[in-house]
Amino acid sequence: MLEDKFGRRFHYLRLSITDVCNFRCTYCLPDGYQCDGDRDFLSRKEISRLVSAFAGLGTSKIRITGGEPSLRKDLPQIIEQCASTPGIEKVAITSNGFKLPQMVQSWADAGLSALNISMDSLDPRQFHAITGHNKLETVLEGIDMALDLGIQVKINSVLLKPYSDSMLSNALDWLKHKPVTLRMIELMQTGDNQPFFNDNHISGQPIKQRLLEQGWGQILRDKSAGPAQEFSHPDYTGRIGLIMPYSKDFCKSCNRLRVSSRGKLHLCLFAEQGLDLRPLLREGNMDALQQKLVTLLGQKEASHWLDKGYTGATQHLAMLGG
Ligand code: GTP
Ligand code: 5AD
Ligand code: SF4
Repeated sequence: MLEDKFGRRFHYLRLSITDVCNFRCTYCLPDGYQCDGDRDFLSRKEISRLVSAFAGLGTSKIRITGGEPSLRKDLPQIIEQCASTPGIEKVAITSNGFKLPQMVQSWADAGLSALNISMDSLDPRQFHAITGHNKLETVLEGIDMALDLGIQVKINSVLLKPYSDSMLSNALDWLKHKPVTLRMIELMQTGDNQPFFNDNHISGQPIKQRLLEQGWGQILRDKSAGPAQEFSHPDYTGRIGLIMPYSKDFCKSCNRLRVSSRGKLHLCLFAEQGLDLRPLLREGNMDALQQKLVTLLGQKEASHWLDKGYTGATQHLAMLGG
């Protein structure tokens, strides 16, 4: 079992399989990030070794992220590979959803159990303004298809000052009859979004207050449940979640580790730098790889220190898939 010196346990790996994304979300890629042309992403063999090494150390859940993971043509095979690794009980994807209608059936067939979709607005014009694409209808259609296939669906919406009021009221209408959890995420400061952050960041606390006043109740979740606070309401099929990385003790429930698409272990979303696993992944020495993971986990810090103005070396979260 992977456990750090603060007693936190890590049964959850977020694995990025590509840096490339086809959307241009204002908060994530303010300057329109371009892949540097070097697309030396982890091969399926390397992914297989990595996932087996983690599974052998107690990891039971893999979330495949990007960039946009569906841009890799071998995504269904990667899902299948993860799902068939002994010890792995849950395989999830975080995606912008634009390929859902075409692809979701093949992901379900490959063993996908859960899907988180980034959808920052339910208003077509705002959706276009944020992502640079007119794909809201496609994403909504794909979500319905995923639900029909029995896949658990969560929505991620980054809280942006100009849109947060209309997002909340549209979300409440939508959630009346949709069996999904919609999580509002506080905008995080990264290495390259300082002016954008200053203009757009708002706290999730007033939204929490509003939900509580309107009869939403906070769901008590177990210690291993991760950073979202979730709320339910008897008149609503869906749930609302809040991810508030600027709130006190956010990192106490940290239960995840990250590996980048080029094979670097990130002990925190805001870690100073990634720790290179590539040579061991290429070599395939599983004992050495597991030993290295255990040793490196000793360096994990208690918190991200964002509240002290630290943005780390993370340029933008697209590189690590959040
Ligand atoms: P579940 O597995 O369904 O609980 O989802 P998740 O929240 O682990 O994954 P998801 O990819 O949907 O994450 C949503 C967003 O929350 C990420 O893109 C980040 O913006 C933020 N987030 C998730 N985990 C962390 C974390 O450990 N630290 C911080 N600061 N933010 C996080
Ligand atoms: N702040 C908060 N969340 C972010 N994401 C990307 N950049 C940021 C940021 N600066 C999250 C979005 C998206 C996921 C892949 O990354 O929630 O759903
Ligand atoms: Fe864990 Fe870092 Fe996220 Fe905090 S910011 S919850 S330490 S990954």
